[in-house]
This record gives sequence, structure tokens and C-alpha cells, in this order.
Amino acid sequence: MHEIKEYLDIGITPELAESIAVLCCRCFEDSKRTVGERVNEMLEMKGSDDPEHITGRRFVVWQGEQIVAHARTFVREIIVEDQRLPVLALAAVCSDPKIRGMGLGVMVTNKAFEQVAVGGWPAVSLFQTPVPNFYQKLNCRLVTNPFVNRRNAQEPEANPWRDDKIMIYPNGFAWPEGTVDLNGSDY
Ligand SMILES: CC(C)(COP(=O)(O)OP(=O)(O)OC[C@H]1O[C@@H](n2cnc3c(N)ncnc32)[C@H](O)[C@@H]1OP(=O)(O)O)[C@@H](O)C(=O)NCCC(=O)NCCS
Repeated sequence: MHEIKEYLDIGITPELAESIAVLCCRCFEDSKRTVGERVNEMLEMKGSDDPEHITGRRFVVWQGEQIVAHARTFVREIIVEDQRLPVLALAAVCSDPKIRGMGLGVMVTNKAFEQVAVGGWPAVSLFQTPVPNFYQKLNCRLVTNPFVNRRNAQEPEANPWRDDKIMIYPNGFAWPEGTVDLNGSDY
């Protein structure tokens, strides 16, 4: 029986960061980041006063000494038509290629989504994905707004996402129309 553990980014240890980084490198092979680079990025969050680090959480499933499934969340304030909207940023959802199809991906994702409770804060999660069918089964839906990142001084109007599928959870959230300023880089 697999259990989920939850960790705060600001309390992350080198051992935990290493286990997460090893899994992420195996699951996101197109990413050029090495295990060491990923570990350093995570350890920089420790003790940080950046609100995105303070709100950062990891949901992981351990199997012995190894992490076999992982999801990361933090709170981002996006801007739509001059209104700020806090969203739960979801990133790095992955499970060990050797034990896929056993429900671990769904487990960590649903646990992450529990933070988006009805009447809770934030009220909606926003993320990019190469596997929209996986999320469609979890009460998520695609959104088609133009996205920009006006904190990118060089290219403020460029689309900040890598994936072309952008989704929200829950499906029934009254998501706004119009251009969305991601107000930071993608995740
Ligand atoms: C996507 C991923 C997390 C799924 O993990 P998993 O542990 O195999 O998922 P689960 O076993 O919980 O899958 C449960 C359901 O999702 C479906 N599913 C799994 N991977 C899927 C995919 N790539 N596309 C569509 N559906 C998928 C399964 O068929 C299953 O559906 P069912 O219950 O109706 O049969 C895993 O394939 C992965 O790590 N991929 C590489 C990294 C990645 O792309 N992550 C997503 C980033 S947004």
C-alpha cells in the first residue's frame, strides 16, 4: 500500500531534494537540467522569503529509499484584465516509468488538488501538460486564453508555456476570458 507524504519547499533536505531530482530526471528526459541542478534549485528554496517558495509543497510516494511519484504546487498570482487571481500552480507531476498504470500519478495529483477546496484559497489550479487526457479524467479542463509573462523584460508578450495544452482544475471553475499574464515564468 503506497502512502503520500507532504513536504514544504522551505524545509526541504538535501536527501529529499536528491530523490525528487532523480525521479524528475528519469521522467522528464527532454529537460536539460541535471540532478545536481535540480537539487540546487530546490535547496535555494530553503529558508527563502519568496511567497512562491513559502507556499511551495511536494507530494511524494516513497518505495523504500526511492521516491516513485511526485507533484509540486505553489501559489502564483496571475493577472487577468488588471485583476489579480491566485492560482495553485501544479508542476512536475510524474511517476516511476517502471510502475506506471498503478494509480500513483492520480494519487499525487488528487492530493495536490485537495488544496483547491470549495471556498478555499486558491480556488483554482492552473498548469500546462503534454497529457491532457490524464487530467481530463480528474475533473480538469482545457483553457484557450492567450498567455503572456509581462515580467519577462525581453519578450513580455511571448507565450511563456512550453506545452501547448493549458488546463485548470476544477472543471466547473468560472475561468475568465481574455489575455492572462502569468506574472512569472512557466512551471
Ligand atoms: C502522466 C503520468 C504521471 C501518469 O502516471 P501513472 O502513475 O501511470 O498514472 P496512473 O496509474 O495514476 O494513471 C491512472 C489513469 O491515467 C491514465 N493515464 C496514465 N498516463 C496517461 C497518459 N500519458 N495519457 C492519458 N492517460 C493516461 C491511465 O490510463 C489511467 O486511466 P484509467 O484509470 O482510466 O485506466 C506518468 O505517465 C508520467 O510520469 N509521465 C511522464 C511525465 C509527465 O508527462 N507528467 C505530466 C506532467 S503535466
